[in-house]
Amino acid sequence: MRKFVFVLCFIFAHFITFHTTIAQKRIPRNFAEYGFFLNKQQLYLQELLEFLRIPSISASSEHLKDVQGAAEWLKNRMLGAGISNAQIFQVGKYPLVYASIPAAIPQAPTVLIYGHFDVQPASVEDGWNITKPFKPRVIQDKIYARGASDDKGSLLSVVHAVEAILAVSQGRSPVHIKLLFEGQEEIGSPDLPSWLLKNRKLVQSDLLISADGSMHSETIGSIVWGLRGAGAIQVNVTGPSHDLHSGGFGGVVENPIHCLVKLLQSMRYENGSIAVEGFYEGTRTVTQKEKEFTRQSIDFERELSRLAGVSQLVGGESKLFDVIERLWFRPTLDVVGIWGGYMDQGIKTVLPARAHAKLSFRLVQEQIPEKVVEKMIRHVNEHCPVGCACEAFDLGFHALPFESDPDMLSNQVLRETLLDIYQEEPKYVRSGASIPIVGFIQKEFQMPAIFLAFGLPDENIHGPNEFYRIGSMDKARKAYVSFLYQLGERYQLERSSKKPTQSQVVATTTPTEDIEMDHSEL
Ligand SMILES: *[C@@H]1O[C@H](CO)[C@@H](O)[C@H](O)[C@H]1NC(C)=O
Ligand SMILES: *[C@@H]1O[C@H](CO)[C@@H](O)[C@H](O)[C@H]1NC(C)=O
Ligand SMILES: *[C@@H]1O[C@H](CO)[C@@H](O)[C@H](O)[C@H]1NC(C)=O
Repeated sequence: MRKFVFVLCFIFAHFITFHTTIAQKRIPRNFAEYGFFLNKQQLYLQELLEFLRIPSISASSEHLKDVQGAAEWLKNRMLGAGISNAQIFQVGKYPLVYASIPAAIPQAPTVLIYGHFDVQPASVEDGWNITKPFKPRVIQDKIYARGASDDKGSLLSVVHAVEAILAVSQGRSPVHIKLLFEGQEEIGSPDLPSWLLKNRKLVQSDLLISADGSMHSETIGSIVWGLRGAGAIQVNVTGPSHDLHSGGFGGVVENPIHCLVKLLQSMRYENGSIAVEGFYEGTRTVTQKEKEFTRQSIDFERELSRLAGVSQLVGGESKLFDVIERLWFRPTLDVVGIWGGYMDQGIKTVLPARAHAKLSFRLVQEQIPEKVVEKMIRHVNEHCPVGCACEAFDLGFHALPFESDPDMLSNQVLRETLLDIYQEEPKYVRSGASIPIVGFIQKEFQMPAIFLAFGLPDENIHGPNEFYRIGSMDKARKAYVSFLYQLGERYQLERSSKKPTQSQVVATTTPTEDIEMDHSEL
């Protein structure tokens, strides 16, 4: 597991054990900012509805102006919140909204809060039967609209929380805050990594907080300490120069679809292990401590079969790993699409000229997407069946795996925060999915990351009838207030009990030097 030097300096041994399963009912902290939120529920809801009416679909060039519109809307709302240096940067074709808020004490830690205001494509034909995707509709405690859960809901609550902190504390924020909201997440953030590297000072912080992600359930929070990485390739197999008559040539000319099937088959052993040479490089055995975490969800196997609509789960790799271990700690290789030949009605006796497949893989631990892509391409070239030509190319979808130390200071503070909000012990979970930018920032900036996002697994993100719960808005803004104050407090505690270390000094950057700050009106 990747350890961050500066995090190690702050770990309180035994502060939390992995065995704390019994909920510790206690009185939640009550911040003055919570009072600021009173009587604003309706206002906040109306704001979210307004935000959701903007069809900021990044995948569609005709909606580029709406992505821009959402950025403008957000920037203006941030200015209205007293975040006076909110500004839009152009990152490739897409806008990014950025701001920084200095802390009351210069030595306070710096957090970078990340979210995105672009959304997945959506149209009524996909099955939206409760409302149109960009005509938000509120039914009881649910807000139906594209982008409600992913990610405009959580993102707007971040702004509400910062607004409350600035208003109540007269601008004396407990930590330095950098806000970075992007408009190209749903297309894989193609231009963001190079922008981040070119604007290191704006990005570098002590902690990344992702407002993109989800909680375990409506009543239990979660601490996400791992995500899988990802990569993808396409394979093109070519046979004859053009489609042939299967009677005239069948049996003497190799069929590219058969070549493709054989090629794909060569990528796996009978027992489910991946046979691509070097594929597992960078993976390691799961530790006892990691195994402990997988025991938290006992009935997960049945739940997964139910969600997937299958009668049984496969036990690849000779059942060596249990279900959660396979989801959290093992890499995968999947054919995600395959096509070629005649696919229309009836039959056409053809020996096709071409066959294609797209493959994606999920990665763990120290696996690197670019390297795995290279190995996959080499495998395709070396295992191309006789009679066909094969070629493979990178589909450019890269995500580094993400891992954090569940014990690090910010996860301890997160636990306290979630305990306050839910009055239940949060679950320590990993996810088999990927959020590319989190792994990237973690690796390139040596910043640990946590997730503080309030979408829930049943909210149909990316699908029809996406929704978000009104109750999540309240939890989210309170959680951000609580987390930021508690983080500031814990850092100070740590500071007063220890001499500053080299890494502490290095890790603390004040945003004041980056963009002009003007909080005089606060
Ligand atoms: C909307 O479509 C879903 C899926 O087809 C269906 O289960 C649901 O009953 C429909 N709801 C309404 C209000 O028509
Ligand atoms: C692979 O096949 C696709 C689909 O026919 C085609 O668009 C693409 O140009 C091919 N790529 C290469 C590198 O041959
Ligand atoms: C699966 O089979 C291959 C080939 O026989 C072997 O090398 C590999 O170790 C096996 N994997 C597991 C997890 O048993």
